[in-house]
Amino acid sequence: MKKRLHKWRLVSLFSILALVLAGCGEPYLSALRPAGEVAQKQYDLMILSTLIMVLVIIVVVVIFVYVLIRFRRKKGDENKIPKQIEGNHKLELIWTVIPILLLLVLAVPTIAATFDLADTKAMEKKDKDGKTKDALVINVRANLYWWEFEYPDLGVVTSQDLVVPTDEKVYFNLTASDVKHSFWIPSAGGKMDTNTDGENQFWLEFDSKKAAEVKDVFYGKCAELCGPSHALMDFKVNTKSRADFDQWAADMKAVKKPAAEGEVARQGEEVFNKSCIGCHAVTPNDSRPEQARQAPNLATFGERERIAGVLDHNEENLKNWIKNPEEYKPGNTMTGTYNVTDEQVDALAAYLMGLKVEEK
Ligand code: CUA
Repeated sequence: MKKRLHKWRLVSLFSILALVLAGCGEPYLSALRPAGEVAQKQYDLMILSTLIMVLVIIVVVVIFVYVLIRFRRKKGDENKIPKQIEGNHKLELIWTVIPILLLLVLAVPTIAATFDLADTKAMEKKDKDGKTKDALVINVRANLYWWEFEYPDLGVVTSQDLVVPTDEKVYFNLTASDVKHSFWIPSAGGKMDTNTDGENQFWLEFDSKKAAEVKDVFYGKCAELCGPSHALMDFKVNTKSRADFDQWAADMKAVKKPAAEGEVARQGEEVFNKSCIGCHAVTPNDSRPEQARQAPNLATFGERERIAGVLDHNEENLKNWIKNPEEYKPGNTMTGTYNVTDEQVDALAAYLMGLKVEEK
């Protein structure tokens, strides 16, 4: 009796869990709301395999219940031995051929999609300057716990905010600088590991109509357990039309040294240049090599929607984050690397909030 009660508790727990988790799908962060060619293909495969599995379960359960009822022991027949059957060629053939057919239905589109989604040949076609000819390539570098997006052919680097054009294939080179992470934009497809040795490559496509539904902002995540703040390793994906993207790239390319406006911001700039600039760049075309880019590029910090990828974007949160990053992202690499007073924190916040490229 006790055992049975225990079982029911487990069943109800799982059904409640399923109900609660079913509410998790935000349109800007859900693999169940595909917003591009890759995500759509992956979604279709998920639906196909789920349908096949459900079909198999239904058929098996129906046969099982039928046999259970039809051939149960009846009153009066307690001592009757039923007819003994050994082997049946027809049945054996049927239950061998049906699974083979089902596997074929599953395998053909899966393999076709796998080859299609792994096709990154366009990345290899370079022009005489060494730039990729007809494809946009973005180098993604994952770090504890932030993301860097480098546009090698445009000479632009961003952090935390990935900007992509819609309705075309965008190619990604994936690496990590410390431990293994995984690059995942649920609405657009993926995921794929970022490794410390060797590059992984794949492509994604962002549908402009689907992007418009979420005001051109998706979110991405780290999908590989990488440390205590793994769940906080989010990044923003901003989609733009091709023309707007080109304009954005040109604006980013043209940024000179940011000018701090106002006395407090100027003090902040001084503090920044003393304590922070060794790791953080403040221009998107900063030419320092990858090894020197030890922390997020802050060129567009004032325009971001989140602080450290997880907090609401306001000065209060920024100050708290600078004072005690460990509290918000345990195990991050900024913890304990500097020492600033409250006054300096205020100045830093004023300076950082003024770092803008698009909206001036
Ligand atoms: Cu990076 Cu999980």
